[in-house]
Amino acid sequence: MNKPNPTEKSEQAAAIRDAVECMGCMHEGTIVTDSEGMVTETNLAADRILEAPSMSLKGTNIRALCPVSSVYDEVLRHAGGDRRSLNRPVILQTHGGKRKLVNMSIQRVGEGIEARFVHVFQDCADLRTMEERLLQSERLATVGKFASQIAHEIRNPLSSISLNVELLEDELRGQSSEARSLIRSVLRELDRLNDIVGEYLQFSRFPKPHLSRGHVDSVIHELAGSFKPKAPVKLEISLMSDSPEVWLDERLLRQALENLVRNGAEAIENEGTVRIETDTVDRFLVIRIVDTGRGIPAEVQPKLFEPFFTTKPQGTGLGLATTQQIIFEHNGHLLVESELGKGTTFTTLLPI
Ligand SMILES: Nc1ncnc2c1ncn2[C@@H]1O[C@H](COP(=O)(O)OP(=O)(O)OP(=O)(O)O)[C@@H](O)[C@H]1O
Ligand SMILES: [Mg+2]
Repeated sequence: MNKPNPTEKSEQAAAIRDAVECMGCMHEGTIVTDSEGMVTETNLAADRILEAPSMSLKGTNIRALCPVSSVYDEVLRHAGGDRRSLNRPVILQTHGGKRKLVNMSIQRVGEGIEARFVHVFQDCADLRTMEERLLQSERLATVGKFASQIAHEIRNPLSSISLNVELLEDELRGQSSEARSLIRSVLRELDRLNDIVGEYLQFSRFPKPHLSRGHVDSVIHELAGSFKPKAPVKLEISLMSDSPEVWLDERLLRQALENLVRNGAEAIENEGTVRIETDTVDRFLVIRIVDTGRGIPAEVQPKLFEPFFTTKPQGTGLGLATTQQIIFEHNGHLLVESELGKGTTFTTLLPI
Protein backbone atom coordinates (compact mmCIF):
# COMPACT_ATOMS: atom_id res chain seq x y z
CA MET A 1 0.00 0.00 0.00
CA ASN A 2 1.36 3.47 -0.96
CA LYS A 3 2.06 5.82 1.93
CA PRO A 4 0.46 9.28 1.37
CA ASN A 5 2.87 12.22 1.00
CA PRO A 6 2.78 15.13 3.57
CA THR A 7 0.59 17.35 1.31
CA GLU A 8 -1.95 14.55 0.94
CA LYS A 9 -1.85 14.05 4.74
CA SER A 10 -2.55 17.70 5.50
CA GLU A 11 -5.30 17.74 2.87
CA GLN A 12 -6.81 14.70 4.57
CA ALA A 13 -6.63 16.37 8.00
CA ALA A 14 -8.31 19.48 6.56
CA ALA A 15 -11.02 17.33 4.95
CA ILE A 16 -11.69 15.63 8.29
CA ARG A 17 -11.82 19.00 10.06
CA ASP A 18 -14.24 20.33 7.41
CA ALA A 19 -16.40 17.24 7.67
CA VAL A 20 -16.49 17.47 11.45
CA GLU A 21 -17.26 21.18 11.32
CA CYS A 22 -19.95 21.16 8.69
CA MET A 23 -21.57 17.90 9.73
CA GLY A 24 -21.26 18.34 13.43
CA CYS A 25 -23.93 20.98 14.03
CA MET A 26 -25.30 21.54 17.53
CA HIS A 27 -27.64 18.55 17.70
CA GLU A 28 -25.46 16.12 15.75
CA GLY A 29 -22.92 13.97 17.47
CA THR A 30 -19.70 13.42 15.52
CA ILE A 31 -17.13 10.70 16.15
CA VAL A 32 -14.06 10.21 13.97
CA THR A 33 -12.35 6.83 14.00
CA ASP A 34 -9.23 5.49 12.34
CA SER A 35 -9.30 2.60 9.89
CA GLU A 36 -9.42 0.11 12.78
CA GLY A 37 -12.44 1.79 14.40
CA MET A 38 -10.49 3.48 17.21
CA VAL A 39 -12.07 6.81 18.25
CA THR A 40 -9.74 9.75 17.53
CA GLU A 41 -12.09 12.77 17.73
CA THR A 42 -15.51 13.55 19.20
CA ASN A 43 -17.57 16.71 19.35
CA LEU A 44 -19.56 18.06 22.31
CA ALA A 45 -22.88 16.71 21.02
CA ALA A 46 -21.40 13.19 20.86
CA ASP A 47 -20.23 13.49 24.47
CA ARG A 48 -23.73 14.67 25.43
CA ILE A 49 -25.57 11.89 23.56
CA LEU A 50 -23.21 9.20 24.87
CA GLU A 51 -23.16 10.77 28.33
CA ALA A 52 -19.39 10.50 28.37
CA PRO A 53 -16.51 12.99 28.51
CA SER A 54 -14.49 12.94 25.25
CA MET A 55 -11.37 11.82 27.13
CA SER A 56 -13.05 8.53 27.99
CA LEU A 57 -14.22 7.93 24.39
CA LYS A 58 -10.86 8.51 22.72
CA GLY A 59 -9.01 5.26 22.20
CA THR A 60 -12.23 3.20 22.54
CA ASN A 61 -13.22 1.05 19.59
CA ILE A 62 -16.49 2.27 18.11
CA ARG A 63 -17.78 -1.31 18.06
CA ALA A 64 -17.66 -1.32 21.86
CA LEU A 65 -20.28 1.44 21.69
CA CYS A 66 -22.50 -0.52 19.27
CA PRO A 67 -24.13 -3.49 21.00
CA VAL A 68 -25.75 -4.60 17.71
CA SER A 69 -22.69 -4.43 15.49
CA SER A 70 -24.30 -6.03 12.39
CA VAL A 71 -26.40 -2.88 11.76
CA TYR A 72 -23.35 -0.70 12.34
CA ASP A 73 -21.28 -2.81 9.90
CA GLU A 74 -24.02 -2.38 7.29
CA VAL A 75 -23.87 1.44 7.59
CA LEU A 76 -20.07 1.29 7.51
CA ARG A 77 -20.11 -0.77 4.29
CA HIS A 78 -21.99 2.05 2.55
CA ALA A 79 -19.56 4.77 3.67
CA GLY A 80 -18.20 6.16 0.39
CA GLY A 81 -15.16 8.37 -0.08
CA ASP A 82 -17.08 11.26 -1.57
CA ARG A 83 -20.45 11.04 0.10
CA ARG A 84 -22.08 10.06 3.36
CA SER A 85 -23.89 6.76 3.66
CA LEU A 86 -27.65 7.04 4.07
CA ASN A 87 -28.90 7.64 7.59
CA ARG A 88 -29.75 4.40 9.37
CA PRO A 89 -31.01 3.69 12.87
CA VAL A 90 -28.19 2.32 15.04
CA ILE A 91 -28.20 1.49 18.75
CA LEU A 92 -25.41 3.10 20.77
CA GLN A 93 -24.54 2.30 24.34
CA THR A 94 -23.89 5.23 26.65
CA HIS A 95 -21.11 5.45 29.21
CA GLY A 96 -23.57 4.36 31.91
CA GLY A 97 -24.80 1.34 29.89
CA LYS A 98 -28.06 2.95 28.67
CA ARG A 99 -29.08 2.09 25.10
CA LYS A 100 -29.99 4.92 22.76
CA LEU A 101 -31.41 4.80 19.27
CA VAL A 102 -29.56 7.19 16.98
CA ASN A 103 -29.82 8.02 13.29
CA MET A 104 -26.30 7.53 11.90
CA SER A 105 -24.44 8.13 8.67
CA ILE A 106 -20.74 7.58 7.99
CA GLN A 107 -18.32 9.18 5.56
CA ARG A 108 -14.89 7.82 4.72
CA VAL A 109 -12.07 10.33 4.27
CA GLY A 110 -8.82 8.99 2.79
CA GLU A 111 -7.81 5.49 1.80
CA GLY A 112 -6.42 2.28 3.29
CA ILE A 113 -4.84 2.38 6.73
CA GLU A 114 -4.82 6.19 6.58
CA ALA A 115 -8.60 6.28 6.14
CA ARG A 116 -10.67 8.08 8.74
CA PHE A 117 -14.38 7.44 9.27
CA VAL A 118 -16.57 10.40 10.23
CA HIS A 119 -19.71 9.18 12.03
CA VAL A 120 -22.53 11.70 12.31
CA PHE A 121 -25.57 10.85 14.41
CA GLN A 122 -28.63 12.33 16.03
CA ASP A 123 -30.37 11.09 19.13
CA CYS A 124 -33.80 9.91 17.90
CA ALA A 125 -35.35 11.29 21.09
CA ASP A 126 -33.98 14.76 20.14
CA LEU A 127 -35.28 14.31 16.59
CA ARG A 128 -38.79 13.62 17.84
CA THR A 129 -38.66 16.70 20.02
CA MET A 130 -37.48 18.81 17.08
CA GLU A 131 -40.28 17.43 14.89
CA GLU A 132 -42.81 18.17 17.62
CA ARG A 133 -41.44 21.68 17.98
CA LEU A 134 -41.66 22.33 14.24
CA LEU A 135 -45.21 21.03 14.06
CA GLN A 136 -46.21 23.14 17.03
CA SER A 137 -44.61 26.27 15.50
CA GLU A 138 -46.54 25.70 12.27
CA ARG A 139 -49.79 25.31 14.14
CA LEU A 140 -49.08 28.42 16.14
CA ALA A 141 -48.23 30.42 13.02
CA THR A 142 -51.82 29.85 11.85
CA VAL A 143 -53.17 30.67 15.28
CA GLY A 144 -50.90 33.74 15.33
CA LYS A 145 -52.68 35.25 12.32
CA PHE A 146 -56.00 34.71 14.00
CA ALA A 147 -54.70 36.01 17.32
CA SER A 148 -53.43 39.20 15.72
CA GLN A 149 -56.96 39.94 14.46
CA ILE A 150 -58.33 39.38 17.96
CA ALA A 151 -55.55 41.52 19.45
CA HIS A 152 -56.54 44.28 17.07
CA GLU A 153 -60.16 44.13 18.26
CA ILE A 154 -59.10 44.06 21.93
CA ARG A 155 -56.82 47.07 21.66
CA ASN A 156 -59.50 49.77 21.36
CA PRO A 157 -61.68 48.82 24.35
CA LEU A 158 -58.47 48.23 26.31
CA SER A 159 -57.22 51.75 25.75
CA SER A 160 -60.58 53.24 26.77
CA ILE A 161 -60.59 51.08 29.94
CA SER A 162 -57.06 52.33 30.75
CA LEU A 163 -58.12 55.93 30.20
CA ASN A 164 -61.17 55.57 32.44
CA VAL A 165 -59.20 53.88 35.21
CA GLU A 166 -56.64 56.71 35.06
CA LEU A 167 -59.50 59.21 35.42
CA LEU A 168 -60.82 57.19 38.36
CA GLU A 169 -57.35 57.35 39.95
CA ASP A 170 -57.49 61.15 39.67
CA GLU A 171 -60.97 61.16 41.25
CA LEU A 172 -59.68 59.06 44.14
CA ARG A 173 -56.86 61.44 45.01
CA GLY A 174 -57.04 62.07 48.76
CA GLN A 175 -59.25 58.98 49.29
CA SER A 176 -58.27 55.83 51.18
CA SER A 177 -54.83 54.50 50.30
CA GLU A 178 -56.24 50.98 49.85
CA ALA A 179 -58.54 52.14 47.03
CA ARG A 180 -55.63 53.90 45.32
CA SER A 181 -53.35 50.89 45.62
CA LEU A 182 -56.07 48.70 44.08
CA ILE A 183 -56.41 51.13 41.18
CA ARG A 184 -52.64 51.12 40.69
CA SER A 185 -52.60 47.33 40.49
CA VAL A 186 -55.45 47.44 37.91
CA LEU A 187 -53.39 49.93 35.88
CA ARG A 188 -50.29 47.74 36.11
CA GLU A 189 -52.24 44.74 34.78
CA LEU A 190 -53.73 46.90 32.01
CA ASP A 191 -50.23 48.00 31.00
CA ARG A 192 -49.19 44.36 30.83
CA LEU A 193 -52.19 43.52 28.65
CA ASN A 194 -51.42 46.46 26.40
CA ASP A 195 -47.85 45.25 26.01
CA ILE A 196 -48.94 41.71 25.16
CA VAL A 197 -51.53 42.87 22.65
CA GLY A 198 -49.03 45.32 21.14
CA GLU A 199 -46.48 42.60 20.66
CA TYR A 200 -48.94 40.20 19.01
CA LEU A 201 -49.92 42.98 16.63
CA GLN A 202 -46.38 44.03 15.88
CA PHE A 203 -45.26 40.58 14.82
CA SER A 204 -48.57 39.04 13.75
CA ARG A 205 -47.30 35.93 15.43
CA PHE A 206 -46.24 34.78 18.84
CA PRO A 207 -43.84 37.24 20.42
CA LYS A 208 -40.12 36.48 20.27
CA PRO A 209 -38.47 36.42 23.66
CA HIS A 210 -35.65 38.79 24.53
CA LEU A 211 -33.55 36.50 26.70
CA SER A 212 -31.19 37.75 29.37
CA ARG A 213 -29.56 36.11 32.39
CA GLY A 214 -31.67 36.34 35.52
CA HIS A 215 -33.40 34.57 38.39
CA VAL A 216 -36.91 33.16 38.18
CA ASP A 217 -37.58 34.04 41.85
CA SER A 218 -38.58 37.67 41.15
CA VAL A 219 -40.91 36.53 38.33
CA ILE A 220 -42.57 34.03 40.69
CA HIS A 221 -42.87 36.53 43.56
CA GLU A 222 -44.41 39.11 41.23
CA LEU A 223 -46.87 36.52 39.92
CA ALA A 224 -47.78 35.37 43.45
CA GLY A 225 -48.26 39.01 44.46
CA SER A 226 -50.80 39.75 41.75
CA PHE A 227 -52.54 36.42 41.12
CA LYS A 228 -55.42 35.98 43.54
CA PRO A 229 -57.09 32.57 43.22
CA LYS A 230 -60.76 32.51 44.13
CA ALA A 231 -61.29 31.54 47.80
CA PRO A 232 -60.85 29.00 49.34
CA VAL A 233 -58.14 27.98 46.85
CA LYS A 234 -54.67 28.84 48.18
CA LEU A 235 -51.51 29.73 46.27
CA GLU A 236 -48.27 28.66 47.97
CA ILE A 237 -44.68 29.15 46.93
CA SER A 238 -41.69 27.11 47.97
CA LEU A 239 -38.50 28.28 46.27
CA MET A 240 -35.01 26.82 46.55
CA SER A 241 -32.42 29.10 48.09
CA ASP A 242 -29.70 30.50 45.79
CA SER A 243 -31.42 29.42 42.60
CA PRO A 244 -29.01 29.53 39.63
CA GLU A 245 -29.39 32.10 36.85
CA VAL A 246 -31.08 31.05 33.61
CA TRP A 247 -31.73 32.72 30.24
CA LEU A 248 -35.19 34.20 30.48
CA ASP A 249 -37.63 36.78 29.20
CA GLU A 250 -39.27 37.86 32.45
CA ARG A 251 -42.53 39.02 30.92
CA LEU A 252 -43.04 35.96 28.73
CA LEU A 253 -42.02 33.54 31.47
CA ARG A 254 -44.46 35.25 33.82
CA GLN A 255 -47.20 34.81 31.18
CA ALA A 256 -46.34 31.10 30.81
CA LEU A 257 -46.32 30.47 34.58
CA GLU A 258 -49.51 32.44 35.06
CA ASN A 259 -51.29 30.25 32.48
CA LEU A 260 -50.22 27.16 34.44
CA VAL A 261 -51.17 28.60 37.84
CA ARG A 262 -54.55 29.77 36.51
CA ASN A 263 -55.25 26.32 35.04
CA GLY A 264 -54.30 24.74 38.38
CA ALA A 265 -56.64 27.03 40.31
CA GLU A 266 -59.44 26.44 37.79
CA ALA A 267 -59.09 22.67 38.23
CA ILE A 268 -59.90 22.90 41.96
CA GLU A 269 -63.59 22.72 42.78
CA ASN A 270 -63.64 23.60 46.49
CA GLU A 271 -60.64 23.68 48.78
CA GLY A 272 -57.18 22.99 47.48
CA THR A 273 -53.80 24.47 46.75
CA VAL A 274 -51.65 25.45 43.82
CA ARG A 275 -47.98 25.36 44.75
CA ILE A 276 -45.06 26.82 42.82
CA GLU A 277 -41.79 25.05 43.61
CA THR A 278 -38.27 25.47 42.28
CA ASP A 279 -35.44 23.01 42.28
CA THR A 280 -32.51 21.93 40.09
CA VAL A 281 -32.12 18.66 38.24
CA ASP A 282 -29.03 17.91 36.19
CA ARG A 283 -28.32 21.07 34.12
CA PHE A 284 -31.85 22.45 34.44
CA LEU A 285 -33.69 24.79 36.74
CA VAL A 286 -37.03 23.17 37.49
CA ILE A 287 -40.25 25.08 38.13
CA ARG A 288 -43.15 22.88 39.21
CA ILE A 289 -46.75 24.04 39.35
CA VAL A 290 -48.49 21.47 41.53
CA ASP A 291 -52.26 21.55 42.01
CA THR A 292 -54.61 19.38 44.04
CA GLY A 293 -57.35 19.68 41.41
CA ARG A 294 -59.42 17.14 39.53
CA GLY A 295 -56.56 15.81 37.40
CA ILE A 296 -56.50 15.21 33.65
CA PRO A 297 -57.89 12.01 32.07
CA ALA A 298 -55.17 10.00 30.27
CA GLU A 299 -57.04 10.18 26.91
CA VAL A 300 -57.07 14.00 27.09
CA GLN A 301 -53.37 14.40 27.88
CA PRO A 302 -52.07 14.08 24.27
CA LYS A 303 -54.36 16.96 23.20
CA LEU A 304 -53.44 19.40 25.97
CA PHE A 305 -50.96 21.46 23.97
CA GLU A 306 -53.04 21.65 20.80
CA PRO A 307 -54.21 25.20 20.12
CA PHE A 308 -57.95 25.60 20.82
CA PHE A 309 -58.22 22.40 22.89
CA THR A 310 -60.39 23.30 25.87
CA THR A 311 -62.91 21.64 28.19
CA LYS A 312 -64.03 24.98 29.64
CA PRO A 313 -67.12 26.81 28.41
CA GLN A 314 -65.27 30.14 28.43
CA GLY A 315 -61.79 28.81 27.59
CA THR A 316 -59.85 29.70 24.43
CA GLY A 317 -57.66 26.59 24.64
CA LEU A 318 -54.63 28.76 23.82
CA GLY A 319 -53.15 28.87 27.34
CA LEU A 320 -51.07 25.68 27.23
CA ALA A 321 -50.17 26.02 23.52
CA THR A 322 -48.78 29.49 24.23
CA THR A 323 -47.05 28.33 27.40
CA GLN A 324 -45.37 25.43 25.61
CA GLN A 325 -44.19 27.72 22.81
CA ILE A 326 -42.76 30.21 25.32
CA ILE A 327 -40.88 27.43 27.13
CA PHE A 328 -39.58 26.09 23.80
CA GLU A 329 -38.35 29.61 22.95
CA HIS A 330 -36.42 29.45 26.24
CA ASN A 331 -34.85 26.18 24.97
CA GLY A 332 -36.67 24.44 27.80
CA HIS A 333 -39.11 21.58 28.23
CA LEU A 334 -42.64 21.40 29.61
CA LEU A 335 -43.83 18.11 31.10
CA VAL A 336 -47.15 17.08 32.60
CA GLU A 337 -48.01 14.39 35.16
CA SER A 338 -51.54 13.95 36.42
CA GLU A 339 -53.63 11.62 38.51
CA LEU A 340 -57.41 11.72 38.33
CA GLY A 341 -58.94 13.04 41.53
CA LYS A 342 -55.50 13.81 43.03
CA GLY A 343 -54.06 16.65 40.98
CA THR A 344 -51.67 17.71 38.26
CA THR A 345 -48.04 18.81 38.10
CA PHE A 346 -46.67 20.83 35.20
CA THR A 347 -42.86 20.80 35.23
CA THR A 348 -40.86 23.43 33.39
CA LEU A 349 -37.17 22.75 32.78
CA LEU A 350 -34.99 25.74 31.88
CA PRO A 351 -31.33 25.21 30.91
CA ILE A 352 -28.95 26.72 33.47
N1 LIG B 1 -53.96 21.84 35.94
C1 LIG B 1 -54.94 21.31 35.19
N2 LIG B 1 -55.82 20.42 35.75
C2 LIG B 1 -56.79 19.87 35.01
N3 LIG B 1 -57.00 20.12 33.69
C3 LIG B 1 -56.17 20.98 33.08
C4 LIG B 1 -55.09 21.62 33.80
N4 LIG B 1 -54.42 22.41 32.92
C5 LIG B 1 -55.05 22.28 31.74
N5 LIG B 1 -56.09 21.44 31.82
C6 LIG B 1 -56.97 21.02 30.71
O1 LIG B 1 -56.37 21.44 29.51
C7 LIG B 1 -57.26 22.25 28.76
C8 LIG B 1 -56.47 23.26 27.95
O2 LIG B 1 -55.85 24.21 28.80
P1 LIG B 1 -55.49 25.65 28.23
O3 LIG B 1 -54.88 26.44 29.30
O4 LIG B 1 -54.74 25.49 26.95
O5 LIG B 1 -56.90 26.25 27.81
P2 LIG B 1 -58.10 26.67 28.77
O6 LIG B 1 -57.61 26.80 30.18
O7 LIG B 1 -59.22 25.73 28.53
O8 LIG B 1 -58.48 28.08 28.19
P3 LIG B 1 -57.76 29.49 28.53
O9 LIG B 1 -56.37 29.17 28.96
O10 LIG B 1 -57.87 30.26 27.31
O11 LIG B 1 -58.58 30.06 29.65
C9 LIG B 1 -58.20 22.84 29.77
O12 LIG B 1 -59.45 23.18 29.20
C10 LIG B 1 -58.34 21.68 30.78
O13 LIG B 1 -59.26 20.73 30.35
MG1 LIG C 1 -55.84 27.91 30.58
